[in-house]
Parts: sequence; C-alpha cells; structure tokens
Amino acid sequence: MTMRLKDSLSGVLTAEEQQAFVGSYDVVGDIAIIIIPEILKSHEKLIANAILAGNRRIKVVAKRAGLYGGEFRTIPLSILAGENRKETEVKEFAIRLRLNPESVYFSVRSGNERRRIASLVTPGESVLVLFSGIAPYPLVISQFSSARAIVGIEKNPEAHAYALQNLQLNKNLGNIILYLGDVCDVLPTLSERFDRVVMPLPATAVTFLPDALQALKPGGYLHFYDFQRPNAFIDSVAKITDSCRACNRRVKNFTIIRCGHCGPRTYRICIDARIC
Ligand SMILES: C[S@@+](CC[C@H](N)C(=O)[O-])C[C@H]1O[C@@H](n2cnc3c(N)ncnc32)[C@H](O)[C@@H]1O
Repeated sequence: MTMRLKDSLSGVLTAEEQQAFVGSYDVVGDIAIIIIPEILKSHEKLIANAILAGNRRIKVVAKRAGLYGGEFRTIPLSILAGENRKETEVKEFAIRLRLNPESVYFSVRSGNERRRIASLVTPGESVLVLFSGIAPYPLVISQFSSARAIVGIEKNPEAHAYALQNLQLNKNLGNIILYLGDVCDVLPTLSERFDRVVMPLPATAVTFLPDALQALKPGGYLHFYDFQRPNAFIDSVAKITDSCRACNRRVKNFTIIRCGHCGPRTYRICIDARIC
C-alpha cells in the first residue's frame, strides 16, 4: 500500500518532495491519519485523495495539525479529504470502541499489549485500570478473563463519555465500573484494594505510584508503563522500588516487557511487578 501510494504520486512530486514523503499513515477505524511535512503542504489534498482512492475502507483522511500534548494526551487533526467527521469505530479483538481521535487518546498499536495484560488475569481477580481512556483495557480484560471486577478511572470527560458508550456497545461485559475524575481524587474514595493495578500513562505514571501502591493488595501485581532507552530499563524498575520503600512495600519479582517504540531508541515498556 505504501509503495503504491508513493508510486501513484511519483510523477507529481519532485525528487526532494518524494524524499520527504513518508508514504505511510495510521489508520484508526475508517480514518487515515497522516503527517504532512511543510515541504509537501501544497500537495496535501492530492496525497489525501490518493489515500482515499487507494483504500475503500478509508472514509476520512486527516492530518496531524500539531503534537500530542496536554494532560489528556490529545492531538489536533485537520480533515483533508472524505467525509466531514472525526468520530469512528475501531474493532479490537472483537471489542467495539467508538472514539474521536482528536478529543481522546487512543493507540491502535497497543492492542496486543492490552490482550497480553488480559491473559495474565486469573479467575476472580479485581483489577484497577488507572487512566482508562475510552476503556479499551477494561473491555479487553473483561472479554478475555474471568475477572470478578474491573474498575477504570479517567479524567478526560470526553474519553469517559466514550467509555460509557463503549460499555453499552459491548453489552455482555457486565463486570466493569468506570469513574470520571483525577486518579488522585477518585482513588481515596474507593474502599476496595485490588489484586492487580494497571498504569498506562508512560513517562508521568511515576507521580501516581504512591496512590497506586496504596490501592494494591499485598502480593498483588502492578503493570507500570514507562518510556525508556534500551540501556536504562532498570531505571524504570527503580522508580517502583523507590516508591515501595517509601511506603514499606517490596518488589518481590518483576519482568520487563517491551511493548512499543516512541521515537528513535526509546521504547514503551511495561514493568510487570509483584508487590508484597
Ligand atoms: C496514554 S492514555 C491511555 C488511555 C487508555 N488506557 C488507552 O490505552 O487507550 C492516558 C490517559 O490518562 C488520562 N489521564 C491523564 N492524567 C490523569 C489523571 N490524573 N487522572 C485520570 N486520568 C488521567 C488521559 O486523559 C488519557 O486518557
């Protein structure tokens, strides 16, 4: 597909423009999301229409109009071709997820990681998903495990609204409770402690470790996400051991999982840790 797209524009772009043209794009549901370098700005509609023409499943082509940012990790998008909408539906392992990729964070690339976490959940567990977004972790865990209860907490009101909608779309999954609010405000109101706590907020999750540990039962499992360089994975483990020390807890054992890339030589990793 990438080659065909590049080929279809080879007669139009100069050699320099051709060089700058990546030719690949993300697909979220039926929306293609492309990055247009400045040098290609005058050809952006042409590129967008070539994507539409080359893939019948794509109904909207949008470009990134900024960077991921803010507390909600969202990205501005600008529509270049196709239907005039930003809402779509993604299928992840038979789970239906509605979302607007501009107003909520969602990464299609983390699907296998969510499925991996679900496969670790044993029957009867209670699972807490902090930063639950549009609820992909709660729904995939509910679908692929026999968890007793799954609780999610999300601060972005739009993401929470989609999460509630997604619970309705996947009706047979009845063991999920979702809270809207800041993890720091909601967690102290929950009386239950959990068998497993998932923290999918790389880079800044460390700030929330004291609250997460407080919510985790002795002997429970923590899944702590971080961005890290290959030779510094152990620094991410140290963030957990330091937090444990501060509250008289201990890391019994841990595994480091690479679950994505983020920029050159930086990985998205998950530390699976058993905490006493
Ligand atoms: C990297 S996204 C992950 C979303 C979702 N778990 C997923 O896999 O698609 C992090 C999420 O944390 C939310 N968030 C950031 N700070 C928060 C806080 N203090 N309390 C609750 N949610 C927060 C953001 O709005 C965002 O939806």
